[in-house]
Amino acid sequence: MKKTLFALILGFFLLHESPVRAGGNYLPCSLCQRDCRSDAGENWQQCYQEKCKDACPFLPAKSFTSEPRISPKSIEAVRLGETTATGIPIESTWKAHIYRFARENSIHPSWGIAHSERNYQTTQKIAQEEGILVDSDVLFAAAFLHDVGGLAAFAKKGVDHAVRSVEVIEPLLMSWGFPMQKWPEVKEMILGHSYYGRKPHSRAALAFRDADILDFLGNIGVARILALTGEPSFFDGTLQPTVKTLNSFAQTMASECSLKACEKLAGPRQKEVREFLDKLSAYTFSDKAL
Ligand SMILES: [Fe+2]
Ligand SMILES: [Fe+2]
Repeated sequence: MKKTLFALILGFFLLHESPVRAGGNYLPCSLCQRDCRSDAGENWQQCYQEKCKDACPFLPAKSFTSEPRISPKSIEAVRLGETTATGIPIESTWKAHIYRFARENSIHPSWGIAHSERNYQTTQKIAQEEGILVDSDVLFAAAFLHDVGGLAAFAKKGVDHAVRSVEVIEPLLMSWGFPMQKWPEVKEMILGHSYYGRKPHSRAALAFRDADILDFLGNIGVARILALTGEPSFFDGTLQPTVKTLNSFAQTMASECSLKACEKLAGPRQKEVREFLDKLSAYTFSDKAL
């Protein structure tokens, strides 16, 4: 009896550790992920399924790749009069819908709901310093939904994530009773938010874009980029790809600011990233052991 139990346990571990699984020629994780990353490009998901399905600890978490979702613990409806995590008031039904949708779907350490909260607050800060009037309804919708099109559940191959966000959320906002006369402003904010894209015209949308840029800098920027280390587009089994991105952001991101208030905030944040990278370099033998 003991021997049978031992054999069963050993069999279980062998099956899970084995690089070649029963019924398929799957590769060990390090090889298949490396292959998929370098060869399959945007088809990495299919590549994973073919080469290393169910075998790898670094497959992206299910929440990054699944269909539009309801979270495992069902989220209670957001009530009017509540606030978001950072104290943004939810005083209309459509805001409650947006917030609930974001809590259920924007689940990502780098561009999930916490990034939305920060973008909302930083935009307000920039706007205040610059004397820009930002419509808080417009900002709420843009902040909580601007990156939805980049989440795997909504992304579309070959479509920029901002364009995809607009596609996904327009009908949703309409169904939730958002005042659609404000939609053009929301759309402008979302389409103009990416540091690598064309700048928007209005100063309110520029403030939002600047807030998004600032979230790539400082200790928060470091945390967000390092959080991408295990994702297929960065994964090579080392810290090198994400640290390389951080190096590039430390050099260029601050110069993407459009408004003076952004430049003022970007300086100290840029310094933080540089300090982090310098210390990291010292710990890792000039980045040779990253
Ligand atoms: Fe974005
Ligand atoms: Fe963003």
